[in-house]
Amino acid sequence: MTEPTGVPASPRALRSALRITALEVRGFRNLAPLVLEPGARFQVISGDNGAGKSSLLEAIDYLARLESFRGARTEDLLQQGVDAQPSAQASLGMRVVGDLAPRTFRVALEAGRPRVLSLDGKKPRSIAAWHASARVVLFHPGDVELPSGGPEPRRALLDRVLSQLDPTYASMAAAYLKALRSRNRLLRAERPDRRAITAFDELLASAGAVIGESRARLVDGLAPLAAEAFAELHGGTLALTVAYRPRVEPGIEHLRAALTRSLDKDLARGFTAEGPHADELALLLDDTLARRHASQGQHRAIVLALKVAELRVLEARTGCVPLLLLDDVSSELDRGKNRRLFELLARHTGQVFLTTTHPEFILLDAADRRDYRMRAGRLE
Ligand SMILES: Nc1ncnc2c1ncn2[C@@H]1O[C@H](COP(=O)(O)OP(=O)(O)O)[C@@H](O)[C@H]1O
Ligand SMILES: [Mg+2]
Repeated sequence: MTEPTGVPASPRALRSALRITALEVRGFRNLAPLVLEPGARFQVISGDNGAGKSSLLEAIDYLARLESFRGARTEDLLQQGVDAQPSAQASLGMRVVGDLAPRTFRVALEAGRPRVLSLDGKKPRSIAAWHASARVVLFHPGDVELPSGGPEPRRALLDRVLSQLDPTYASMAAAYLKALRSRNRLLRAERPDRRAITAFDELLASAGAVIGESRARLVDGLAPLAAEAFAELHGGTLALTVAYRPRVEPGIEHLRAALTRSLDKDLARGFTAEGPHADELALLLDDTLARRHASQGQHRAIVLALKVAELRVLEARTGCVPLLLLDDVSSELDRGKNRRLFELLARHTGQVFLTTTHPEFILLDAADRRDYRMRAGRLE
């Protein structure tokens, strides 16, 4: 298992970057059939609201992570015809170079049926094998709620990075969640069976320990990178602190003891209170919780700083720059923050897909960019 500390290794002279060399989208959301050979660096996609810009990034993100960032079901992804009926099928494909050998990813979606995946023309051995060669960092407008809302999306951020770094992490987290749900169901039974309930404690403690220790190491790596990126994006002296606040100190003994100690209370509440499912990732600006005090613009800068940190950790730990997808990134940034964002992006060596309603906000050199226009689902 890799140690996701996130501390950058000594910088390599030439770091490889994941790059999509061919992209194909059919029957997805409002997009007209699309075949694209993107450039090595910035793809700037501009268009009016509702043109299909987010749909295009969603298609790429879905190809990499096999999940919709909008939480959409397959039925919602399939293109609706004039009669509002979803079309029978959608297909997505991309060829990615840069990490190991070039790989071809294909997903076929069909209403009411399981999706069909193919990696280099074959059914992938595991989802982990898929994720291992399609790493992506995405910013989308909904992310601005990350600092202000509940803790769940902040835990999800840690889990997303860890799953991309270490295939065993995702299966460990899934096993933990399954055991947690079973234990909670038993806690709510009319006549709870204590022995059956505590039978889950060992699995929860051991999987929970791996989750907690992995998250703690990841935050050790993420925190200084996020602080640095925030200082650069925000300007001024305001400092971002990212701190892991586990519900129970990571470690199998601590978790075991916490589960035992809280059994009576768990029975009264009807759920398991102690464990990494209740962890918090605290985001502080000058030692004050961002959730309570930060402005909208500061929230955006925090989220962008976390995304930059996520990218750098993935890059450092895998030796390969992930794909970067930035949906509507400039809107609601003031001029200073927008300028500093593009100064930072100009040094980014990987491939980027970036959408905007206002191409004049995109401050990139002509040599680094390819411009596209999205009109009513058609990319020009
Ligand atoms: N399954 C679907 N079939 C057809 N159109 C869809 C589907 N899902 C969403 N749309 C429409 O696609 C359009 C483009 O959405 P979006 O990609 O979010 O636009 P943008 O990001 O350019 O503002 C919207 O008008 C939306 O209603
Ligand atoms: Mg959009």
